[in-house]
Amino acid sequence: MSHITNEEFMKKEINVVVTGAAGQIGYSLIPRLIDGNLFKDTIVNLSLVEIPQVVEKLEGLAMELDDSYFPHLGSIDIYDDFSAASHNGNWFLLVGSIPRGIVYKGKKIEERSDLLKINGGIFVDQGKAIGSNGANEAKVLVVGNPANTNALIGMNAANNKDQTWMAMTMLDSNRAKSMLAKKINCNVSEISKMVIWGNHSPTMYPDFENALYKNSSVKEAISDLDWFSNSFIPSVQQRGKAVIDARGASSATSAAKAAIDTIHACENPTLSGDCFSAAIMSDGAYDVPEGLICGFPLMTLSSGKIEIIRDLSLSDGGKQRLSQSVQELIDEKSAVQDLL
Ligand SMILES: NC(=O)c1ccc[n+]([C@@H]2O[C@H](COP(=O)([O-])OP(=O)(O)OC[C@H]3O[C@@H](n4cnc5c(N)ncnc54)[C@H](O)[C@@H]3O)[C@@H](O)[C@H]2O)c1
Repeated sequence: MSHITNEEFMKKEINVVVTGAAGQIGYSLIPRLIDGNLFKDTIVNLSLVEIPQVVEKLEGLAMELDDSYFPHLGSIDIYDDFSAASHNGNWFLLVGSIPRGIVYKGKKIEERSDLLKINGGIFVDQGKAIGSNGANEAKVLVVGNPANTNALIGMNAANNKDQTWMAMTMLDSNRAKSMLAKKINCNVSEISKMVIWGNHSPTMYPDFENALYKNSSVKEAISDLDWFSNSFIPSVQQRGKAVIDARGASSATSAAKAAIDTIHACENPTLSGDCFSAAIMSDGAYDVPEGLICGFPLMTLSSGKIEIIRDLSLSDGGKQRLSQSVQELIDEKSAVQDLL
């Protein structure tokens, strides 16, 4: 199932592993991985993973990808066994997870703590496989919720310092940019340096203090400080629920675009003065306890290394919001302590 490689045209090859590939995010995400815009001049080999009950659906997706004329598409392999899929993966997009509200092993999963435990168990196995079988400098983006704690569990199980684990907060950052752009009445591309601090949950802190509109503070363009506290912050925090209420299903195309944007941000050096948002392991920056997977301002260096930007400042109010979200991460960590 592979296209002929024109060596003049396609200089590189990359292996991308996607879990939850038959889900709604997967359907929107996977074509974008192979359209040549994200991984330029690169053949993309896909390893698509699903649970055994669903894996057959992936044959249909593979047929559609073949039928879509993607010159950058390499091989498509389908798995119901993550460990087998994980060999030599350069990027792991861990989208699959058990959602709240479904019946799992005879029990309806309502509590976040149950969700943490069930998904946590899955991420132990996936982490071990990535640590042993993934490429040396593999990057892992956890999308499946609760994303930060799933990533924490996976990263601990992987125990491989050369690999980078992240949880996705780009969707929150994109939502925040859109809300600011609407308020200012400008294009979204004119908003930059949009940081999502903390947990990918309603406690996250979308940081308007450091955000820029055309290189000056958005606070100069939007002087209404009440709007930030009473409208902007809660709207970003609750946007996922608002989409579920309106659509009857959780965000999918925007989540897929955010995953693509995160990969793009990691594969290309960050422009000076800007940053991107993802949750990554804390090394104590901004007084966040070491080892937690926390949303930070990040930059990609020209070497490809991803680093926390350390020189942003937060107001006391901002610090308090970050510390509330960090407390939630600490509580989630305690709930899964036996998996770490
Ligand atoms: N971080 C974010 O910003 C963000 C945004 C939107 C959604 N999400 C989360 O992304 C996840 C996926 O969302 P969706 O809308 O695609 O859900 P979905 O239910 O449509 O698809 C999830 C898929 O994952 C599969 N799956 C479950 N466990 C798996 C496992 N162990 N291995 C492989 N596949 C597995 C399921 O069979 C299903 O096909 C959910 O957890 C959702 O909450 C995160």
